[in-house]
Amino acid sequence: MCGIVGYLGPHQAAPLLLEGLARLEHRGYDSAGVAVLGGSGIRVAKRAGRVRDLSEDLPKRFTGKVGIGHTRWATHGPANDVNAHPHTDTKELVAVVHNGIIDNAAALRDELAEEGVDLVSDTDTEVLAHLIAGSGADTLEGKVAETLGRIHGTYGIAVLHVDFPDRIVVARNGSPLIIGVGDKEMYVASDLAALVRYTTTVAHLDDGEMATITSAGFSTYRLGASGLAATNRRAAHVDVDPASYDAGEYDSFMYKEILEQPAAAERVLRGRLDERFATGHLGGLNLDARELRAIRRIKVLGCGSAYYVGEMGATLIEELARIPADAEAASEFRYRNPIIEPDTLYVVVSQSGETVDTLLAVQEIQRKGGRVIGLVNVVGSAIAREVDGGIYLHAGPEVAVASTKALTNMFLGFAMLALQLGRVRDLSIADGRRLIAGLEALPHKIEQILATEERLEAIAARLAEAESLFFIGRVRGFPVAREGAQKFKEISYRHAEAYQTSELKHGPLALISPDVPTVAIVPDDELVERNVAALHEIAARGGPLVVVTHEDVALRGLPSDLAERIVVPRSERELDPILLTIPLQVLAYHAAKHLGHDIDKPRNLAKSVTVE
Ligand code: AGP
Repeated sequence: MCGIVGYLGPHQAAPLLLEGLARLEHRGYDSAGVAVLGGSGIRVAKRAGRVRDLSEDLPKRFTGKVGIGHTRWATHGPANDVNAHPHTDTKELVAVVHNGIIDNAAALRDELAEEGVDLVSDTDTEVLAHLIAGSGADTLEGKVAETLGRIHGTYGIAVLHVDFPDRIVVARNGSPLIIGVGDKEMYVASDLAALVRYTTTVAHLDDGEMATITSAGFSTYRLGASGLAATNRRAAHVDVDPASYDAGEYDSFMYKEILEQPAAAERVLRGRLDERFATGHLGGLNLDARELRAIRRIKVLGCGSAYYVGEMGATLIEELARIPADAEAASEFRYRNPIIEPDTLYVVVSQSGETVDTLLAVQEIQRKGGRVIGLVNVVGSAIAREVDGGIYLHAGPEVAVASTKALTNMFLGFAMLALQLGRVRDLSIADGRRLIAGLEALPHKIEQILATEERLEAIAARLAEAESLFFIGRVRGFPVAREGAQKFKEISYRHAEAYQTSELKHGPLALISPDVPTVAIVPDDELVERNVAALHEIAARGGPLVVVTHEDVALRGLPSDLAERIVVPRSERELDPILLTIPLQVLAYHAAKHLGHDIDKPRNLAKSVTVE
């Protein structure tokens, strides 16, 4: 998704902006640009392609100690040099970078065209530059506020103006913006990843806030009908290791993050398991035992992989706490005018904490009086700040677009929540202890799976040759299949479709052939017999199988040339889904690598989706 950086200080801005943009590259983009403000006014360099190409093309004497930069992920108009940000007005008085979408851009473009303004790009952003330049307000803050008053939509923006060369003005509504405070220099970014090399003292803007950044510091305001009211936001230190934003010795962030899972899993569990009372110890929920007991239903909301882990979590909650629970795509939720019930607990799940579909679901629930908790990885993110309580996932920064370690920790977060909900109902102390032991053993079991990488790599190379694959599973195994298919398609670009094993014979069996492999999730649980029967139906039609299962599960004479086995360690049954998921991440990674794809920058995708 689009990225913003800004710099103001004693050094030349361009190299710092390019460095910041390079740190946002993995988030997905198709063009990049920078603008600097120096003695000769605003200078802009921008182009389709990589930040590296932009650096090589940068004109000589591109000087200025104030600047803004952007990586664009096309929404309005194709990825080309003209549509790349920054955008300027005709006289180049103003330069703007923008994340988000302006919903009334078409109407504003028509108005500007009628006034004789020559719009050169296809973008919604360009209108901002013309409107700010045309505003009659005396200050840059006034010009920006007046302009934002005319637009509908979402934005994170940073603005330069030749008449106000000592400042950058930024504003946020639905798209993250962070101010970084350095040593006599100031930064702006849409993501902490762009800042950590320079500073970890930051302030997050809220929706509806604006800020002025000068060499003396920054001031924040709330945008309102009656003007700008100071919000006096302060910067605070964030506890983050800058090294975690480097892939180091690894060929990709995804690979590094897959391998980090045992350590990340230990972190999310640390201090949150109460052995004495055999329960979870999740203080951040802000719910006491009486409130936990009063919950009659759980609704989990998330997008993409977070939604699939949400399905795993809902199953876990039903199993352990016997509370009706289900998961739904947050992107669909608010459009069906959902009934918000006072005794339902809404649980949103998000790695980034900035996914706009999930954030809007939170706001819809809160507007209607519902209580929402969040399972979120990024501390201080928009969702983390808006929910009524929750669990931080402590996976550490996740950089790769394909989420791995954060998803594992989401599952563990759900397991602890389910345990805590179960123990104030009728989950026995013995079962509580059994699950705690199971949870504590998981990091080592993840390590054991990762140690089988060589074999997984060989299987992945074979799967990568297929144009189309099925991933199948039942009940606990179905969200595992969905997540496996998602990961595989995201980075290998193969058509990978997830199905309930039980539904196969109701249609998709027609597609089974020697060219269409099936990855089958077959834990040794109550459904193993039925699952194995389905495998025979696939084999009878010549369909190759990769069976993700436990040791000793009898495949009852499946021809070995058709069925390969991936064995995961046994765990408590309720916790099986996460161990069954790990090999699927490794398969996806090696399939993509085998096909020569850029693993951390899958085509068309972005790390956090901040537009609807
Ligand atoms: C995961 O591999 C995907 N890149 C994607 O589905 C992701 O999980 C989804 O966009 C939600 O992101 P979030 O967890 O940051 O909200």
